[in-house]
Amino acid sequence: MYAIETHELTKTFRGTRAVNALNMHVPEGAIYGFLGENGSGKSTTEKMITGLMNPKSGSIKLYGKPHTDPKLRAEIGVLIEAPGCFPKMTVYDDLMMQAYAMNLRNPKQEVERVLKLVRMGGSAGRKFRECSLGMKQRIGLAKALLGRPKLLVLDEPINGLDADGMRIVRETLTYLNQEEGVTILVSSHILSELDKIATHYGIIKRGKLLREIKASQMSEESGDYVAIKTSDDRRAFELLSCNFETHPQKDGGIRLYGVDDNARVTSYLYQNGVTVGEMVNRRISLEEYYTRTISAKEAV
Ligand SMILES: Nc1ncnc2c1ncn2[C@@H]1O[C@H](COP(=O)(O)OP(=O)(O)OP(=O)(O)O)[C@@H](O)[C@H]1O
Ligand SMILES: [Mg+2]
Repeated sequence: MYAIETHELTKTFRGTRAVNALNMHVPEGAIYGFLGENGSGKSTTEKMITGLMNPKSGSIKLYGKPHTDPKLRAEIGVLIEAPGCFPKMTVYDDLMMQAYAMNLRNPKQEVERVLKLVRMGGSAGRKFRECSLGMKQRIGLAKALLGRPKLLVLDEPINGLDADGMRIVRETLTYLNQEEGVTILVSSHILSELDKIATHYGIIKRGKLLREIKASQMSEESGDYVAIKTSDDRRAFELLSCNFETHPQKDGGIRLYGVDDNARVTSYLYQNGVTVGEMVNRRISLEEYYTRTISAKEAV
């Protein structure tokens, strides 16, 4: 089942389509990286999905139900743009207030749990306005995690974070996804970070979804390969060409496509008297794939 499914979702601002007939599919259990240039419609889409904005037309289903179903609200954690916190309140009190408003069973325990998850436990006594940008982002994430939602919608959650902050958020999201089965829709311009965690991608341009793809499919489609240099390339080619798509290179060495176990290639060659001197995996980066898609493909 899809955690999020939109059908022809459209939003206009003063006659201009900010989101244009979007058909998006976020499978349950996915970390779905939502990518697009500034102004392409990511935040607008996320606001509609989370009920912060009404669509002009089209529909949204969450776990097969219309997104307006009030029971769904408690299941969704949201961080879109600035986290809504009271500047003069301490982080702890602000979160406690939210926990009470959500009618959580063990508010104190729950607040402590989410602060610990984003490693903000030590700064909980600080006033929100005295927190740095990176801290505020993490507090926003903590707030989104209150009540253990099964779906998280996060708009640029790593914006303004330093390397350590990014790592903490990355680890938190991975933990929630893998250990607690939380589905995550996350938009970000920091592709190198998304590349490390996303299982699926959606690429949007001027309100239109250009592409939806699984991370594993991206690698297949992009022709990822392994490049090897051996003690006897001609013999290696003979041995490998019956099992792999194999291309000898002009400057020496061989490219192999469709390899999923490098060690088996090495040992197979070794058993047949050929030693591997160099082996390099060429994997397309998300950035390359994204740039290629954005510049080459017309909206579908
Ligand atoms: N409240 C609004 N009123 C008028 N126009 C808006 C409003 N919100 C968004 N827009 C316009 O809709 C388009 C999509 O904006 P949106 O914020 O969804 O883009 P985005 O993909 O999130 O961009 P960014 O990467 O900069 O965050 C833009 O052209 C923007 O100017
Ligand atoms: Mg945005």
